[in-house]
Amino acid sequence: MRITLRLIVSLIVVVVFVAIVSAWFNVRQEKIKLYEEVTSRSALLADSFQESVRNNLTAKNYSGVQRLADKFQSQKQLEGVAIYDPAGTRIISSSALTPLLAVHKETVEASLKDGQDKAGTYAMANKKMFLYPLSVTLDGGEIVRIVLFTNVSYIDYDLFKIWKRTLLRLLAQMILISIVTLVVVRWTFVDPITQMAEWMKNLRIGDAHGHAPPIKGDIFAPLAKEATTLATNLQAARRSAQNEARLRQEGESLWTPERLKEHIKIKMEGRPLFVVSNREPYMHIKEGKDIRTIVPAGGLVTALDPIMRAAGGTWVAHGSGEADFEVTDAKNRIQVPPDEPAYSLRRVPLSKEQEDGYYYGFSNEGIWPLCHIAHVRPIFRKEDWQYYYDVNKKFAETVLEEIADVKEPCVLIQDYHFTLLPGMIKAVRPDTRVAVFWHIPWPNPETFGICPWQKELVMGLLGADLIGFQTQFYCNNFLDTVDRTIESRIDWEHFSAQKEGHVTMVKPFPISVDFQRPDKEAKALAEKPELKSVLKEMGLKAEYVGVGVDRIDYTKGMLERVKAVERFLEKYPEYVNKFTFIQLGAPSRTHIPQYHRFLAELHAEVDRVNWKFKAKDWKAIVFLEKHHDHKEITKFYKIADTCLVTSLHDGMNLVAKEFVAARDDNSGVLILSRFAGASRELKDALIVNPYDIEQMADAIYYSLTMPKVEIEERMTRMRHDLHENNIYKWAANLTDELMKLRMDDFKLTSV
Ligand code: G6P
Repeated sequence: MRITLRLIVSLIVVVVFVAIVSAWFNVRQEKIKLYEEVTSRSALLADSFQESVRNNLTAKNYSGVQRLADKFQSQKQLEGVAIYDPAGTRIISSSALTPLLAVHKETVEASLKDGQDKAGTYAMANKKMFLYPLSVTLDGGEIVRIVLFTNVSYIDYDLFKIWKRTLLRLLAQMILISIVTLVVVRWTFVDPITQMAEWMKNLRIGDAHGHAPPIKGDIFAPLAKEATTLATNLQAARRSAQNEARLRQEGESLWTPERLKEHIKIKMEGRPLFVVSNREPYMHIKEGKDIRTIVPAGGLVTALDPIMRAAGGTWVAHGSGEADFEVTDAKNRIQVPPDEPAYSLRRVPLSKEQEDGYYYGFSNEGIWPLCHIAHVRPIFRKEDWQYYYDVNKKFAETVLEEIADVKEPCVLIQDYHFTLLPGMIKAVRPDTRVAVFWHIPWPNPETFGICPWQKELVMGLLGADLIGFQTQFYCNNFLDTVDRTIESRIDWEHFSAQKEGHVTMVKPFPISVDFQRPDKEAKALAEKPELKSVLKEMGLKAEYVGVGVDRIDYTKGMLERVKAVERFLEKYPEYVNKFTFIQLGAPSRTHIPQYHRFLAELHAEVDRVNWKFKAKDWKAIVFLEKHHDHKEITKFYKIADTCLVTSLHDGMNLVAKEFVAARDDNSGVLILSRFAGASRELKDALIVNPYDIEQMADAIYYSLTMPKVEIEERMTRMRHDLHENNIYKWAANLTDELMKLRMDDFKLTSV
């Protein structure tokens, strides 16, 4: 209320000041104008009077002058006229004026004393009298003075009326200002702030949601945004505290972002964490004139971003977004996530030739098909290898720059794009603890042997102190490959390889997801999506829905999935018009001819099957080919009766784990390829061979007819496992293992 009062008083003071100053000027102008009028009127009258006066007085005709004087009285404000001799003695005056002049004789005499014809205003019997003298020379040379008496009291009255009008207007304005200010302050500030306070109170006592507070409008938009973030954080903290408390109660120990943060702080003795990957966690792209942030598709980002959010540090990656370097600082750094900065992203720029040779060429046309048994021939070109080497070198220089001031830093390198990086970093900074996590499969030594640069790749990797794979099987394959490729000592008991005195530990670390995240995404949806309305947006109707979420990649078994849906509808025709399969496909590596061909074939297959079962308002397969964000993907996970993850070969395939994490209703069936790393853990999925179309069709049927109790039991068990083995536990295990290694003269040995 005090602020409102202050606002009103300030406004009123300003308005009063302005009104009074302008009224004062008005009054002054008006006064000057009125006196000028009186003066010119008096001058006119005196002038018209003087000739007759001269003639009559020269002729000593006093009665004639008297008559004339009487004619001049009581005209408008003119009270009368008087004539004085040079000594100031009244000769003649208008009869009506005579008594007044007798009383105020001195006043008039004083006004004429100096002999000048100077007009002036004098108080005479409650009146304000304007005296206008005019000297007239008679024929005999004698000078008399005609004085005109005008009552100018009306001028004061007129001026008083102006002041009165101004003050009344001012009063009305003051009342209006007070009312408008009160209403505006109430609407704009008091009501929203009261609501906000109420919302905050509810939040504090645990009643409100972390959604946007109930305040609107431009002024409060930044406040509302911050408050929403604060509320979300508060709720997350509260949830995690409750979780911790519950787990302590149950004697369990769940890994949370907070726990990982503390853990890393202790284990790494306050050193920052450095992550290196080809793919960046946030990409800035152009949309018309605007710059938009997107989270690239792929398991690596899904898994690593929550860790970095919790642990902080620096993530070094290729800046591949077209607007990436428009938003970074001079060192190509930017704080991310954009809404809630938690760690630093250092972007490495690459030329088109480098990207072509290193990323599209050697990494994705060479190593990717080499490691995935998906019947696509790897292509190894000498030029690509050279670019691969150069880019690894470039990343090594960037990492060395980032870790320059850190003693015994920890660097976690991701994936097949950087096999040479561990060796390059170690050569310059042997005190660095280097871990590599290999997200994709590692093939058997015969398959790997196809690569003309297998020795260099293996040697580069052995620069690391620790190499993590998704499964024990890939660890075995790797050590077998080392054994066959170079001269080294393999310790099968401790799973390590020793080369030139340096030991590299090899261990499985099955990667996972942030179990809470899909939940958060789901809660961010206005309300739980309804199957009907989601399908309606696409102009379709169906009773059952299957979902697939993939980067468009030939390893994902998408063609086989389309065939399986076709076979399912043939085999179980009662589901025609009832079951729709929705495939979310994020375009990927589109400059590689193999991916081009694959996409074209996929479209053709989808069209073929849809044509075969063509019906009004229904489609067998919906192919949504675009980049979907987490929130959109979660919506589809939530409405699905079944999720098909049918990769032909995959290190882990985190889509399977994301689907399970999203199903907080303990419903939905997961159909999972036995060739995906995830099948080693998610035993309650329906495990299929993606090459066996018949089996996959039956699995779809089984998923739709499975008793509800069984669905719930399977999903509950999978969720329980995933809850415990989340991404934070993965990161804790990996860093624990790395920090366990002892640094002796910069030669690492296992303890
Ligand atoms: C796989 C790889 C990742 C890669 C991701 C997306 O998950 O293991 O290293 O980032 O696919 O592929 P992209 O080529 O788009 O980075």
